[in-house]
Amino acid sequence: MGLDAQGVISFWNPGATRLFGYEEAEILGQPISRLIPPAQREEAQALLRRVAETGPVSGYETLRMRKDGAQIEVAMSVSPIRLPGTGTAGRLIGYAAIIRDNSERRVAEQRMRELQAELLQASRLSALGEVAATIIHEVNQPLAAISNYLGVMEHALRGTAPDDPIRAVLAHTAAQVERAVTVVRRLRGLAMPMGAEPMPEAFNLAVAEAAEMALAGLDRTGLNVTLDLSPAVGLVRMDRVQVTQLVVNLVRNAAEAIGGGARREIRIATARPRPDGVELRVYDNGPGLPQAVRARLFQPFVTGKPGGIGLGLAICHRIAHDHAGTLDLQEGEDGTCFLLALPAADAA
Ligand SMILES: Nc1ncnc2c1ncn2[C@@H]1O[C@H](COP(=O)(O)OP(=O)(O)OP(=O)(O)O)[C@@H](O)[C@H]1O
Ligand SMILES: [Mg+2]
Repeated sequence: MGLDAQGVISFWNPGATRLFGYEEAEILGQPISRLIPPAQREEAQALLRRVAETGPVSGYETLRMRKDGAQIEVAMSVSPIRLPGTGTAGRLIGYAAIIRDNSERRVAEQRMRELQAELLQASRLSALGEVAATIIHEVNQPLAAISNYLGVMEHALRGTAPDDPIRAVLAHTAAQVERAVTVVRRLRGLAMPMGAEPMPEAFNLAVAEAAEMALAGLDRTGLNVTLDLSPAVGLVRMDRVQVTQLVVNLVRNAAEAIGGGARREIRIATARPRPDGVELRVYDNGPGLPQAVRARLFQPFVTGKPGGIGLGLAICHRIAHDHAGTLDLQEGEDGTCFLLALPAADAA
């Protein structure tokens, strides 16, 4: 856009219309103050004086005002327009201004700051994983020692009366230590990164083995377990131990949820809905997730079971994520269905 020496708008292009919302016809001949928020008017006067006295100014950041009254952040370059003559000697007849919307740049800068924050968070998380691994290791040692000492005490109490209250205290102590050992052992599953060299392995085989492991030792009377493994499911690049752990956790949860009721049912099914992905569904016809658990699903130490630890699903989620997959609750049916999706490692 252009101004005359008195600050009246004398030139207007389509870019200016886009930026300010005024059509050329309605703004030509208007004072430049129409585009300047009241708080910036003095500053704008000073800017024009400066351009007149010392020459072009570029990259000047300030606020301007659109036709609808909205303020916009802009960057401007302003040059004096003079009649022929040398330097500041030629008579000033106006100003040429190039005005750029700065808000897009602001958005980009904001996004950049967010990315940096995310990076920082990620490196903090991996530091956290290292700290956790260290704590787990350090806590394991004293726990093992406590366990041993408890064994010694138990032995020493052999000669005392069976109803000696110390025996009960000792049993409670042992149970609590056992729990601490379990928590620490399972936390390791959360803190440890995936094995360095995940290998393409038959997904169905891993699932079948894990299911067998999870169901071993369960009372299967009245329990109907269906294993429905699609032959289309091929290889998945995996850390076998971790994927086994994932499936075991899901199937154990299912078995624990259906309890001792009649017509108990667990369905374990694999599928390949897309050439590049495989799926596993673990379904049970139990009571469904407790509301309090549902709200914080996959977070550690969330449990609906008396004496439960609440690490199973958190570990499952982490393992799925480490394998570039997802684990979700599948809504819709009675009971509970978890859906694991993983990338396939072979051509369909
Ligand atoms: N199939 C399911 N049906 C109903 N509730 C479930 C099912 N799976 C999980 N839940 C609920 O989600 C909670 C969290 O499960 P998660 O496996 O994380 O912990 P947990 O089983 O309580 O303890 P653990 O760490 O030993 O696995 C369970 O306590 C249970 O309330
Ligand atoms: Mg569990």
